[in-house]
Amino acid sequence: MDKQIVEIDMADVGHGNPAWIAALEAGKVLYFPDFGSYGKAGFAPQKEELALFREDIRDPKIRNISLSADGDLKGVVGDDATKALAAGMIGRFRAEAEALVGNLVPRYGEHLRRGATSFRPSVVQNRVQSWRADDRRMHVDAFPSRPNRGERLLRIFTNVNQEGAPRVWRVGEPFEDVAKRFLPRVKPYVRWQARVLDALGVTKSLRSEYDHLMLQLHDAMKADLDYQKNAPQVTFGFPPGCAWVCFSDQASHAVMSGQYMMEHTLQLSPMQQYDKQASPLAILTRLRGHALV
Ligand code: SIN
Ligand code: FE
Repeated sequence: MDKQIVEIDMADVGHGNPAWIAALEAGKVLYFPDFGSYGKAGFAPQKEELALFREDIRDPKIRNISLSADGDLKGVVGDDATKALAAGMIGRFRAEAEALVGNLVPRYGEHLRRGATSFRPSVVQNRVQSWRADDRRMHVDAFPSRPNRGERLLRIFTNVNQEGAPRVWRVGEPFEDVAKRFLPRVKPYVRWQARVLDALGVTKSLRSEYDHLMLQLHDAMKADLDYQKNAPQVTFGFPPGCAWVCFSDQASHAVMSGQYMMEHTLQLSPMQQYDKQASPLAILTRLRGHALV
Protein backbone atom coordinates (compact mmCIF):
# COMPACT_ATOMS: atom_id res chain seq x y z
CA MET A 1 0.00 0.00 0.00
CA ASP A 2 1.20 3.48 -0.89
CA LYS A 3 1.93 5.79 2.02
CA GLN A 4 -1.44 6.89 3.37
CA ILE A 5 -0.14 9.66 5.64
CA VAL A 6 1.80 12.53 4.05
CA GLU A 7 3.88 14.73 6.35
CA ILE A 8 4.14 18.44 5.54
CA ASP A 9 5.90 21.25 7.41
CA MET A 10 3.76 24.36 7.82
CA ALA A 11 6.57 26.29 6.12
CA ASP A 12 6.15 24.07 3.02
CA VAL A 13 2.36 24.28 2.68
CA GLY A 14 2.69 26.77 -0.18
CA HIS A 15 -0.30 27.91 -2.20
CA GLY A 16 -1.82 25.17 -4.30
CA ASN A 17 1.08 22.71 -4.27
CA PRO A 18 0.05 20.03 -6.84
CA ALA A 19 1.63 17.19 -4.84
CA TRP A 20 -0.44 17.95 -1.72
CA ILE A 21 -3.61 18.46 -3.79
CA ALA A 22 -3.17 15.11 -5.54
CA ALA A 23 -2.50 13.34 -2.23
CA LEU A 24 -5.55 14.89 -0.56
CA GLU A 25 -7.84 14.07 -3.48
CA ALA A 26 -6.46 10.51 -3.54
CA GLY A 27 -7.85 10.10 -0.03
CA LYS A 28 -4.58 10.38 1.87
CA VAL A 29 -4.22 12.09 5.23
CA LEU A 30 -2.09 15.26 5.18
CA TYR A 31 -0.21 15.62 8.46
CA PHE A 32 1.18 18.91 9.82
CA PRO A 33 3.42 18.22 12.83
CA ASP A 34 4.11 21.89 13.66
CA PHE A 35 0.57 23.31 13.32
CA GLY A 36 0.42 24.32 16.99
CA SER A 37 3.87 25.86 17.17
CA TYR A 38 4.20 27.54 13.79
CA GLY A 39 4.46 31.29 14.34
CA LYS A 40 2.49 32.80 11.48
CA ALA A 41 -0.40 30.37 11.31
CA GLY A 42 -1.75 27.40 13.18
CA PHE A 43 -3.58 27.04 16.45
CA ALA A 44 -2.88 26.40 20.10
CA PRO A 45 -5.23 27.02 23.02
CA GLN A 46 -4.55 30.11 25.12
CA LYS A 47 -3.81 29.94 28.83
CA GLU A 48 -7.27 30.97 30.06
CA GLU A 49 -8.87 28.45 27.68
CA LEU A 50 -7.20 25.61 29.54
CA ALA A 51 -10.09 25.91 32.03
CA LEU A 52 -12.16 24.20 29.31
CA PHE A 53 -9.98 21.12 29.39
CA ARG A 54 -12.00 18.82 31.63
CA GLU A 55 -14.15 15.95 30.54
CA ASP A 56 -17.28 17.24 32.32
CA ILE A 57 -17.27 20.44 30.26
CA ARG A 58 -19.35 18.40 27.78
CA ASP A 59 -23.06 17.90 28.37
CA PRO A 60 -23.31 14.09 28.54
CA LYS A 61 -26.51 14.17 26.47
CA ILE A 62 -24.56 15.59 23.50
CA ARG A 63 -21.88 13.63 21.65
CA ASN A 64 -19.54 16.53 20.88
CA ILE A 65 -19.29 20.18 21.81
CA SER A 66 -19.86 22.07 18.58
CA LEU A 67 -20.07 25.49 17.03
CA SER A 68 -22.40 25.55 14.03
CA ALA A 69 -21.67 27.50 10.86
CA ASP A 70 -24.15 30.10 12.17
CA GLY A 71 -22.29 30.44 15.45
CA ASP A 72 -24.61 28.38 17.69
CA LEU A 73 -22.69 26.66 20.46
CA LYS A 74 -23.95 23.29 21.70
CA GLY A 75 -22.93 20.91 24.44
CA VAL A 76 -20.98 23.11 26.90
CA VAL A 77 -21.88 22.83 30.59
CA GLY A 78 -21.20 26.13 32.37
CA ASP A 79 -22.08 29.78 32.74
CA ASP A 80 -22.16 32.37 29.96
CA ALA A 81 -18.49 33.27 30.42
CA THR A 82 -17.49 29.61 30.02
CA LYS A 83 -19.62 29.32 26.91
CA ALA A 84 -18.10 32.48 25.44
CA LEU A 85 -14.62 31.17 26.16
CA ALA A 86 -15.44 27.89 24.38
CA ALA A 87 -17.03 29.64 21.40
CA GLY A 88 -13.98 31.91 21.11
CA MET A 89 -11.52 29.02 21.19
CA ILE A 90 -13.46 26.94 18.69
CA GLY A 91 -13.94 29.96 16.41
CA ARG A 92 -10.20 30.70 16.45
CA PHE A 93 -9.40 27.14 15.49
CA ARG A 94 -11.98 27.32 12.71
CA ALA A 95 -10.34 30.43 11.24
CA GLU A 96 -6.89 28.79 11.25
CA ALA A 97 -8.25 25.54 9.81
CA GLU A 98 -9.91 27.46 6.97
CA ALA A 99 -6.73 29.46 6.36
CA LEU A 100 -4.74 26.22 6.05
CA VAL A 101 -7.25 24.78 3.58
CA GLY A 102 -7.22 28.08 1.66
CA ASN A 103 -3.49 27.63 1.10
CA LEU A 104 -3.60 23.91 0.40
CA VAL A 105 -6.41 23.91 -2.14
CA PRO A 106 -7.00 27.53 -3.21
CA ARG A 107 -9.32 26.64 -6.07
CA TYR A 108 -11.92 25.18 -3.68
CA GLY A 109 -12.23 28.78 -2.45
CA GLU A 110 -15.76 30.09 -2.26
CA HIS A 111 -17.17 26.68 -3.21
CA LEU A 112 -16.46 25.37 0.28
CA ARG A 113 -19.50 25.24 2.52
CA ARG A 114 -18.79 25.68 6.20
CA GLY A 115 -20.09 22.91 8.45
CA ALA A 116 -19.77 22.55 12.21
CA THR A 117 -16.60 22.75 14.29
CA SER A 118 -16.23 20.47 17.29
CA PHE A 119 -14.26 20.24 20.51
CA ARG A 120 -14.00 16.66 21.76
CA PRO A 121 -12.98 16.43 25.42
CA SER A 122 -13.91 12.76 25.98
CA VAL A 123 -11.53 9.86 26.39
CA VAL A 124 -11.91 7.80 23.22
CA GLN A 125 -11.04 4.50 24.91
CA ASN A 126 -13.91 4.83 27.43
CA ARG A 127 -16.73 5.47 25.01
CA VAL A 128 -19.51 2.88 25.10
CA GLN A 129 -21.53 2.67 21.91
CA SER A 130 -23.07 0.39 19.30
CA TRP A 131 -20.80 -1.16 16.66
CA ARG A 132 -22.31 1.12 14.05
CA ALA A 133 -21.48 4.29 15.99
CA ASP A 134 -18.09 2.98 17.10
CA ASP A 135 -15.42 5.05 15.37
CA ARG A 136 -12.74 2.72 16.75
CA ARG A 137 -13.66 0.53 13.79
CA MET A 138 -12.28 1.62 10.42
CA HIS A 139 -14.87 3.31 8.23
CA VAL A 140 -15.52 6.06 5.74
CA ASP A 141 -17.81 8.81 7.04
CA ALA A 142 -21.45 8.57 5.94
CA PHE A 143 -24.49 9.77 7.85
CA PRO A 144 -27.85 7.96 7.92
CA SER A 145 -30.10 11.00 8.30
CA ARG A 146 -28.24 13.49 6.08
CA PRO A 147 -28.01 12.43 2.43
CA ASN A 148 -25.38 14.48 0.61
CA ARG A 149 -25.55 13.16 -2.98
CA GLY A 150 -21.79 13.02 -3.37
CA GLU A 151 -20.86 16.25 -1.63
CA ARG A 152 -17.43 15.91 -0.09
CA LEU A 153 -16.55 16.03 3.63
CA LEU A 154 -13.23 17.77 4.10
CA ARG A 155 -12.08 17.68 7.72
CA ILE A 156 -9.30 19.39 9.61
CA PHE A 157 -8.29 17.94 12.99
CA THR A 158 -5.94 19.11 15.70
CA ASN A 159 -4.81 17.28 18.82
CA VAL A 160 -4.97 19.77 21.70
CA ASN A 161 -4.18 17.32 24.50
CA GLN A 162 -2.18 19.09 27.21
CA GLU A 163 -0.70 15.98 28.81
CA GLY A 164 1.21 14.62 25.86
CA ALA A 165 -1.33 11.98 24.80
CA PRO A 166 -1.39 11.30 21.07
CA ARG A 167 -4.62 10.85 19.14
CA VAL A 168 -4.11 7.38 17.75
CA TRP A 169 -5.72 6.61 14.41
CA ARG A 170 -5.69 3.69 12.05
CA VAL A 171 -5.72 4.65 8.37
CA GLY A 172 -6.77 1.96 5.94
CA GLU A 173 -6.62 1.10 2.28
CA PRO A 174 -7.58 3.45 -0.61
CA PHE A 175 -11.30 4.06 -1.25
CA GLU A 176 -11.39 2.17 -4.54
CA ASP A 177 -10.02 -0.94 -2.82
CA VAL A 178 -12.66 -0.62 -0.09
CA ALA A 179 -15.39 -0.19 -2.71
CA LYS A 180 -14.24 -3.16 -4.82
CA ARG A 181 -14.07 -5.37 -1.74
CA PHE A 182 -17.48 -4.52 -0.28
CA LEU A 183 -19.73 -3.54 -3.23
CA PRO A 184 -20.37 -7.16 -4.21
CA ARG A 185 -21.90 -7.77 -0.75
CA VAL A 186 -24.03 -4.65 -0.24
CA LYS A 187 -27.81 -4.59 -0.33
CA PRO A 188 -29.24 -3.10 -3.53
CA TYR A 189 -30.79 0.37 -3.47
CA VAL A 190 -34.58 0.36 -3.33
CA ARG A 191 -36.06 3.68 -4.32
CA TRP A 192 -39.46 3.24 -2.66
CA GLN A 193 -37.73 2.48 0.64
CA ALA A 194 -35.75 5.71 0.32
CA ARG A 195 -39.05 7.54 -0.31
CA VAL A 196 -40.59 6.03 2.83
CA LEU A 197 -37.59 7.07 4.95
CA ASP A 198 -37.90 10.58 3.56
CA ALA A 199 -41.68 10.74 4.15
CA LEU A 200 -41.22 9.54 7.75
CA GLY A 201 -38.56 12.17 8.34
CA VAL A 202 -35.88 9.54 9.06
CA THR A 203 -33.79 11.27 6.38
CA LYS A 204 -33.67 15.03 5.88
CA SER A 205 -34.05 14.57 2.11
CA LEU A 206 -34.31 11.64 -0.30
CA ARG A 207 -31.48 9.14 0.18
CA SER A 208 -29.86 8.73 -3.25
CA GLU A 209 -28.26 5.50 -4.46
CA TYR A 210 -24.90 7.14 -3.72
CA ASP A 211 -25.89 7.78 -0.10
CA HIS A 212 -27.22 4.24 0.20
CA LEU A 213 -23.94 2.76 -1.07
CA MET A 214 -21.83 4.95 1.22
CA LEU A 215 -23.86 3.87 4.26
CA GLN A 216 -23.60 0.26 3.18
CA LEU A 217 -19.80 0.58 2.88
CA HIS A 218 -19.61 2.29 6.29
CA ASP A 219 -21.64 -0.48 7.93
CA ALA A 220 -20.04 -3.38 6.03
CA MET A 221 -16.55 -2.21 7.02
CA LYS A 222 -17.47 -1.78 10.68
CA ALA A 223 -19.37 -5.07 10.87
CA ASP A 224 -16.49 -7.15 9.48
CA LEU A 225 -14.14 -7.93 12.37
CA ASP A 226 -11.80 -9.91 10.17
CA TYR A 227 -11.49 -6.87 7.89
CA GLN A 228 -10.91 -4.62 10.89
CA LYS A 229 -8.05 -6.78 12.01
CA ASN A 230 -6.46 -7.84 8.75
CA ALA A 231 -7.13 -5.09 6.20
CA PRO A 232 -4.12 -3.08 5.01
CA GLN A 233 -3.67 -0.31 7.56
CA VAL A 234 -1.22 1.87 9.42
CA THR A 235 -1.54 2.93 13.04
CA PHE A 236 -0.33 6.43 13.77
CA GLY A 237 -0.34 8.59 16.89
CA PHE A 238 -0.96 12.24 16.04
CA PRO A 239 0.98 14.10 18.73
CA PRO A 240 -0.33 17.13 20.62
CA GLY A 241 0.09 20.33 18.64
CA CYS A 242 -0.22 18.76 15.22
CA ALA A 243 -3.03 18.97 12.66
CA TRP A 244 -4.19 16.57 9.98
CA VAL A 245 -6.53 17.02 7.03
CA CYS A 246 -8.43 14.48 4.94
CA PHE A 247 -11.58 13.81 2.98
CA SER A 248 -13.19 11.66 5.65
CA ASP A 249 -15.81 10.30 3.22
CA GLN A 250 -12.89 8.73 1.32
CA ALA A 251 -10.01 8.04 3.72
CA SER A 252 -10.65 4.85 5.67
CA HIS A 253 -10.03 5.77 9.32
CA ALA A 254 -10.59 4.78 12.95
CA VAL A 255 -9.71 6.48 16.23
CA MET A 256 -8.23 4.18 18.86
CA SER A 257 -7.31 6.47 21.74
CA GLY A 258 -6.84 10.07 22.78
CA GLN A 259 -8.57 12.95 24.53
CA TYR A 260 -9.12 16.59 23.55
CA MET A 261 -9.31 17.16 19.84
CA MET A 262 -10.80 19.84 17.66
CA GLU A 263 -12.26 19.21 14.24
CA HIS A 264 -13.68 21.42 11.52
CA THR A 265 -15.86 20.21 8.66
CA LEU A 266 -16.08 21.80 5.23
CA GLN A 267 -18.30 20.56 2.43
CA LEU A 268 -17.54 20.73 -1.26
CA SER A 269 -19.27 19.71 -4.45
CA PRO A 270 -17.21 16.97 -6.16
CA MET A 271 -17.54 19.06 -9.34
CA GLN A 272 -15.18 21.59 -7.76
CA GLN A 273 -12.32 19.15 -7.23
CA TYR A 274 -9.11 19.49 -9.19
CA ASP A 275 -9.51 15.86 -10.28
CA LYS A 276 -13.23 15.10 -10.58
CA GLN A 277 -12.52 11.43 -11.28
CA ALA A 278 -11.00 10.95 -7.83
CA SER A 279 -14.19 11.48 -5.79
CA PRO A 280 -16.11 8.61 -4.15
CA LEU A 281 -19.09 9.58 -6.35
CA ALA A 282 -16.98 9.20 -9.53
CA ILE A 283 -15.41 5.95 -8.31
CA LEU A 284 -18.71 4.35 -7.26
CA THR A 285 -20.43 5.54 -10.47
CA ARG A 286 -17.66 3.94 -12.53
CA LEU A 287 -17.80 0.68 -10.58
CA ARG A 288 -21.61 0.49 -10.71
CA GLY A 289 -21.87 1.59 -14.36
CA HIS A 290 -24.79 3.97 -13.93
CA ALA A 291 -25.64 7.36 -12.40
CA LEU A 292 -26.06 7.26 -8.62
CA VAL A 293 -27.57 10.67 -7.91
C1 SIN B 1 -14.01 9.87 13.27
O1 SIN B 1 -14.23 10.76 12.43
O2 SIN B 1 -14.22 8.72 12.97
C2 SIN B 1 -13.53 10.22 14.67
C3 SIN B 1 -12.22 10.86 14.65
C4 SIN B 1 -11.68 11.18 16.03
O3 SIN B 1 -12.48 11.37 16.95
O4 SIN B 1 -10.45 11.28 16.16
FE1 FE C 1 -15.17 9.05 11.00
